[in-house]
Amino acid sequence: MKKILITGGAGFIGSHVVRLFVNNYPQYEIYNLDKLTYAGNLFNLTDIENKPNYHFIKADIVDGEHIMQLFEQHRFDDVIHLAAESHVDRSIANPMEFIMANIVGTVNLLNAAKFYWKDDFENKRFYHISTDEVYGSLGDTGFFTEDTPYDPHSPYSASKASSDHLVRAYHDTYNLPIVISNCSNNYGPNQFPEKLVPLFINNIRSNKPLPVYGKGENVRDWLYVIDHARAIDVIFHKGKDGETYNIGGHNEWTNIDLIKLLCQVMDEKLGRETGTSEKLITYVKDRAGHDLRYAIDSAKLQRELGWVPSLQFEEGIRLTVDWYLNNQEWLEEVTSGNYLKYYEEQYVKR
Ligand code: NAD
Ligand code: TYD
Repeated sequence: MKKILITGGAGFIGSHVVRLFVNNYPQYEIYNLDKLTYAGNLFNLTDIENKPNYHFIKADIVDGEHIMQLFEQHRFDDVIHLAAESHVDRSIANPMEFIMANIVGTVNLLNAAKFYWKDDFENKRFYHISTDEVYGSLGDTGFFTEDTPYDPHSPYSASKASSDHLVRAYHDTYNLPIVISNCSNNYGPNQFPEKLVPLFINNIRSNKPLPVYGKGENVRDWLYVIDHARAIDVIFHKGKDGETYNIGGHNEWTNIDLIKLLCQVMDEKLGRETGTSEKLITYVKDRAGHDLRYAIDSAKLQRELGWVPSLQFEEGIRLTVDWYLNNQEWLEEVTSGNYLKYYEEQYVKR
């Protein structure tokens, strides 16, 4: 039985990756390691938490000693590393948390893998999940490829860039078998309602203002979270050691066009007159250092490993809106902090 450590598995993307691996690979033991920050939530995984090949470990990757002990105890064969502080606005307010979780946390995992795998790297893999934001900002044309030089601007993207460099350094220096992927913006079920899509769905539902940064002209390249999880599955199993793969679905939207689409879908779903939700749009002060445009060229992944996105954007947005409208309880639980009580009940008291 392969033992796979997935970090950050209680978060948005991590929970979809954990679900996919637990369901599709009963021959693997999946260990979900998560600190359960405000963004990590075991309510995301109630459907699989009792499966025999699923295990949860509450731990902080910044605690290097604890990470070593866990490797000693469980002897993981592979790591799929998603745990991170992930919100750009929070990184502007508090960079140090990002340095600790994203840089120090990643090095702690690299050190534990290097120590316990020793020189026997046969059938081992350290898969680091990263973002397209490390490449910086594009003008009106062009795409990020795997060869685009790093040029991060926010404390978040700088901390992710730093962790990518360290992962590559452990490959080049110690031959650690690594692979990295850099993905564009994700959307879909289970995203904490402070990032653009879930925040705006939530605000439209409760008739709150929609705070658009600057003029809403920034462009993001959106991918449905389950397509990201499918790409991670393919790269984990078929990616080449030492390589980087960009993940994206050629799906660029200016923020304002995306917000107008969301308003239109929400009007439809809530039975409101067309144009009602758009009235909530409120232009606010721009984000400091706001990157203008991200756009991913994922040709390498498509050509070499055969991955293609499964969903058209408008279909994905409708599925996402439906999910949030049908899961109000989830929304209330994650925003009220009730999930911490759930953790106590589920894991501490029994
Ligand atoms: P998220 O914020 O929803 O989840 C992060 C998870 O990591 C949470 O469960 C949190 O509890 C956990 N975590 C944070 N600090 C930790 C620590 N010190 N120790 C242990 N666990 C900790 O993030 P997400 O959007 O799911 O992103 C997951 C990964 O994918 C991140 O590495 C992010 O950089 C990357 N990524 C995200 C996007 C996106 O659009 N969301 C796009 C590309 C790449
Ligand atoms: P976000 O979801 O924070 O992702 P990222 O900054 O990592 O791309 O933001 C997506 C875009 O939406 C980004 O250009 C900032 C913008 N935005 C707003 O205009 N208003 C908001 O309230 C938020 C959270 C984001």
